[in-house]
Amino acid sequence: MISTIKTELQGERVLLTPLQIENIYTHFAWNNDPELNMLDSELPFVEESFGDFKRRFEGLLFHPSMNSQDFEIHDEEGKLIGVVEISDISDHNRHCSVSLTIGDRAYWGKGYGRDAMQVILDYCFGVLKMHRLTAEAFEYNDAWKRLVEGMGFHEEGTIRDFVFREGRYWDKHLYALLDTDYSSMGRMPGPTD
Ligand SMILES: CC(C)(COP(=O)(O)OP(=O)(O)OC[C@H]1O[C@@H](n2cnc3c(N)ncnc32)[C@H](O)[C@@H]1OP(=O)(O)O)[C@@H](O)C(=O)NCCC(=O)NCCS
Repeated sequence: MISTIKTELQGERVLLTPLQIENIYTHFAWNNDPELNMLDSELPFVEESFGDFKRRFEGLLFHPSMNSQDFEIHDEEGKLIGVVEISDISDHNRHCSVSLTIGDRAYWGKGYGRDAMQVILDYCFGVLKMHRLTAEAFEYNDAWKRLVEGMGFHEEGTIRDFVFREGRYWDKHLYALLDTDYSSMGRMPGPTD
């Protein structure tokens, strides 16, 4: 199992922390937001009761999976603005998948997503020693596609007609970034970073 060496990760503006039980109502609101669901989940939107959500959330906090890690994203004032999930961590193959949601719309398009992504890439490559990170984006999610492409991810393929939304099918784009790509961009954190 890969252990979390640092539990708090500092970016230029954001601070990533473990999930905190006192923030459950904010997470619950984002979980039941149909627009966020469309952007970051392939599952059709179904409103979840607070009791069901609480059981799932407590599971993430108190019985975390060995192959995923979740973080909260906080702004400069400490306000919770989003979440990051590192999932499908394979210790042997040194790969994992990354997804990120700025849940608070007031923070969209202001650079917080990019800052949080930079932190998580440094963590995955520099601390978890991953070789390969993957990200997936639905065809209609321009902000996420632009973010991962801007961070140097390569598009490796397209899954055609993967999700059915608003009366039609949409593709899913598959992206990956290798540690060697990251190094060649001069972004690999040093041992003291
Ligand atoms: C996708 C998301 C993480 C991007 O974070 P953000 O803080 O809004 O984006 P940033 O301000 O850091 O900008 C990152 C890039 O996206 C571009 N961008 C931001 N919003 C955009 C939009 N609505 N349309 C097109 N491009 C957009 C920015 O211009 C920037 O690219 P650039 O540096 O080449 O100019 C955020 O909008 C979000 O959480 N959305 C809802 C959930 C989601 O879609 N999650 C991703 C799938 S898991």
